Amino acid sequence: MLRIGVLVSGGGTNLQAIFDAIESGRITNTEVAVVISNNAGAYALERAKEHGVEAVCLSPKQFGTREEFNEALLEKIDRYGLDLIVLAGFLVTIPPAMIEKYRNRIINIHPSLIPSFCGVGYYGLKVHEAALARGVKITGATVHFVDEGMDSGPIILQKAVEVLPGDTPKVLQRRVMEQAEWVILPQAIHMIANGMIG
Ligand code: GRF
Repeated sequence: MLRIGVLVSGGGTNLQAIFDAIESGRITNTEVAVVISNNAGAYALERAKEHGVEAVCLSPKQFGTREEFNEALLEKIDRYGLDLIVLAGFLVTIPPAMIEKYRNRIINIHPSLIPSFCGVGYYGLKVHEAALARGVKITGATVHFVDEGMDSGPIILQKAVEVLPGDTPKVLQRRVMEQAEWVILPQAIHMIANGMIG
């Protein structure tokens, strides 16, 4: 059984997609051991509680220094004995010590086809604004392992999504989530849980 921890900052629709996929059998051999958010108001924490999963809030604001937060986060992660850490819209930089300790055991979902529209400053709606501004006709999402860089780790899965005339950043964001993120994030977890990658 793969024990996963999901790190979130917001609404948690990707977290929901993971729960749904576990319930429907699209993800097998996996349990969500903990959901951690840096934001106490994140709806993702409610989703965790609804599924009987421990919901933890850990914010840099609760600590005097970033180092103290980093240590507390790593300690929390270690305590749950996780096999895989899933970043599902987690807007906090992962401490280098955690990347080192959990190499190839941290994955992230990014709402574009890396290497387009990724790296510093490309998060949330900004990714889709940039895709529309550039006029691409195809965008998508990427699941990748996390390394020391920004969206630079080995790619696990990608899925393309069409950009349609009249798209706004919000409309495009929603289509990328529905057609790509909520599909390939559960798929990647299933593959890792069943020894198909990593
Ligand atoms: C998603 O677009 C994801 O790709 C990005 O942050 C967003 C999280 O959305 N990294 P949600 O909290 O899963 O709804």
